[in-house]
Amino acid sequence: MDFQWYPGHMTKAKRAMQEDIRLVDLVIELLDARAPGSSRNPDIDTLAKGKARLVVLNKADLADESANRAWSDYLSGSGASVLCMDARLGNGKKKVQEGILKACEKKIERDRRRGILNRPVRAMVAGIPNVGKSTFINTLAGRASAKTGNKPGVTRGNQWIRLNKQVELLDTPGILWPKFEDPEAGLKLAWLGSIKEEILNTTGLATELIDFLQRSKPDCLAEHYGILPEAGAERILEQIAEARNCRMKGNEPDTERAAFLLLNDFRSNRLGRITLELPEGGKD
Ligand code: G4P
Repeated sequence: MDFQWYPGHMTKAKRAMQEDIRLVDLVIELLDARAPGSSRNPDIDTLAKGKARLVVLNKADLADESANRAWSDYLSGSGASVLCMDARLGNGKKKVQEGILKACEKKIERDRRRGILNRPVRAMVAGIPNVGKSTFINTLAGRASAKTGNKPGVTRGNQWIRLNKQVELLDTPGILWPKFEDPEAGLKLAWLGSIKEEILNTTGLATELIDFLQRSKPDCLAEHYGILPEAGAERILEQIAEARNCRMKGNEPDTERAAFLLLNDFRSNRLGRITLELPEGGKD
């Protein structure tokens, strides 16, 4: 399957990130806990060079718990400060504020030695579309301060949200572009709903997902749809259509409707908490 993201958007997003990043001490990099490798933009290391970094494995509530631990250990092992979160819940606020200060320890200490006291750490949130950036900012700020969704063309002035005496957060998140060079990564992001559906072939996406699930979670389709999966993803999609009474005129199984249904069930965790990839050396 071929995935595209308009190069014009990419250039604009990159320029905006480069401008904003100059203003901050810390970049809070949001990854989707269900596919941290695929939702990570490799250019972030260059873009955020010299800045402190806090990695948030967001949507951890949707991902497999042991995989969350494996990713936390792996990313911490490469030197990053890492947190697992459900950005919709306010109870992670304290954890984030502590994470920010820990990630900026060296800078705070440097300031202190230079006699600079009480200068708040300035942070920005960055991540690919739909990873939960606006939700994260809203939760942290405690009010509707960031617009949910990425709205191109909205004029942006830099506004700072004071989280407490020690931390200020830029109210506009940095939008990173998805990683499309690797077709596997594009596929996973499409399953997660991070790529606009209109540009995708839903049935193709669903059959690829069925193949993946049959390999990595062999019982989940049988359990959820009450089917005995037969050979071939196309046939299984028909079985799902039959089980859920998705039919076209003439009583044929409506596989396109079944494909939407399957993707929705997957995205809303009705098939269980599923992580699509493990750190290098792990099995997915
Ligand atoms: P973005 O700014 O990075 O583009 O993402 P945004 O905050 O708009 O979040 C995208 C979707 O992900 C939203 O759902 C949001 O509620 C959901 N979300 C964000 N963080 C988490 C999380 O940690 N766990 C779970 N389960 N969901 C999360 P939506 O259905 O698109 O919108 P809404 O109807 O919830 O507003």
